[in-house]
This record gives sequence, structure tokens and C-alpha cells, in this order.
Amino acid sequence: MENYIENLNWRYATKKFNPEKKLSEDEVQSLLKSIQLSASSYGLQPYEVFVISDEETKAKLKPAAWNQSQLTDASHVFVFAGLKKIDENYLDAYLDNISKIRDIQIQDLSGLKNMLTTNIVEQPEANQKTWAQKQAYIALGNLLSAAAHLKIDTCPMEGFDAQKFDEILGINETNLTSAVIATAGFRSEEDQMQHAKKVRKQKEELFHII
Ligand SMILES: Cc1cc2nc3c(=O)[nH]c(=O)nc-3n(C[C@H](O)[C@H](O)[C@H](O)COP(=O)(O)O)c2cc1C
Repeated sequence: MENYIENLNWRYATKKFNPEKKLSEDEVQSLLKSIQLSASSYGLQPYEVFVISDEETKAKLKPAAWNQSQLTDASHVFVFAGLKKIDENYLDAYLDNISKIRDIQIQDLSGLKNMLTTNIVEQPEANQKTWAQKQAYIALGNLLSAAAHLKIDTCPMEGFDAQKFDEILGINETNLTSAVIATAGFRSEEDQMQHAKKVRKQKEELFHII
């Protein structure tokens, strides 16, 4: 645990990446695993993730992210795109997957299907979109912690234009929309933020121990 907390202290929102240092394929695969294993409400994983190392695509995304240098200097850009709506087809695919993996008859999942239809599919689209994005943020958190564990630097980012990102990624006509992004790579020695003290609420302000 001590080591885990040390790594969380080591992590900071990296402002300046070293453009020469790239993630290895093993490192990328570990980060993908941390996203794949993320918890999500009911396990519905209502998002997909674009993993971008292509320099041309990163350069196109940069102006749509207020020209933040992380977009092009970092080795990889992760774009978490949430579903805009969750329909019956999506639910059926999810139930099929449970049925296959756990060897359960699909008709034995009808109770779950009814519950998810009421709780998710029949909800207003705006609520579904917000809910999907919340789930994507959990995966973002896992990515940041896993990266810190591997001594990989990251910067979570909301400073981007989702509509422009969707256009560049070619998803604007689909059921996905960019929710949040993270850049990953290795810090530049010149990044002064790595020396800044962490600013956090005091425990007394943050926690209510009951
Ligand atoms: C959801 C989210 C969005 C953020 N957006 C940006 C961003 O667009 N650009 C940036 O440089 N930092 C961004 N940050 C980094 C935060 O400013 C940073 O995490 C916070 O100040 C705490 O500092 P630390 O992470 O270095 O400990 C974001 C962080 C989060 C969690």
C-alpha cells in the first residue's frame, strides 16, 4: 500500500511531455487492460476508447484541445467516447455476452433484461448520455492509477471541443461522443509542475467519518 500511495504522489497532471519517449507495446497493453477491467454500472461499459499514437491524428486534434502541447508531445492520446443512447440492441448484445461467457440461458436473464430496460433503456436520452460519460470517467481513473503504478505519466483533460474531436475521429454520425481524454507518455525534465507540491483539501474537509 505504501508503494501505491508513493506512486499516486509521484503522479501529476503532466504539462510537458518528452516527445522523444514513447510507450512500449507492453505498456500500452497494460494500460488497455486497466481500462478493460474497469468497473461500470451493471457492467454495461457504455463507452469505447480511441487509442491514438498516429502523429498526424494527434496534430489534427491539438487545435481542438486549445493547442495544449500534451496532444502532440505525449506518446499516446486516449479519447474516452461515451454512448449517446443505450437502446434495446445494445442491451441484447450485452446479455448475449453474459450468456456466452457464463454459460447461462438467455431466457434466464429476462429478469435482468426487464430491470435494465426500465432503469436504463427507457430513461431520457440526455440522462443516458450523462450516465455513459460518468462510467467512462471511472475507466479514466483506472487508467491514471495504472499508469502511475507503471511510472507512466498522464494528463487527464477536459479542455477540448468534443464536437471537433468527434469530427476528426469520424464518429460524429455515430452513437458515440467524446467525453474525456488522457494523454500518456513520459514527463519532460523541463516540466516545472513535477516539482510543485500537491494541493489537496485537508482530510477534515474531505471526509465525514461516521
Ligand atoms: C477530468 C479532468 C480534466 C482535466 N483537464 C485538464 C486539461 O484540460 N488540461 C490540463 O493541463 N490539466 C487538466 N486536468 C488536470 C488537473 O488540473 C489536475 O489533475 C489537478 O490540478 C490536480 O493536480 P495533479 O493531478 O497534478 O495532482 C484535468 C483533470 C481532470 C481530472
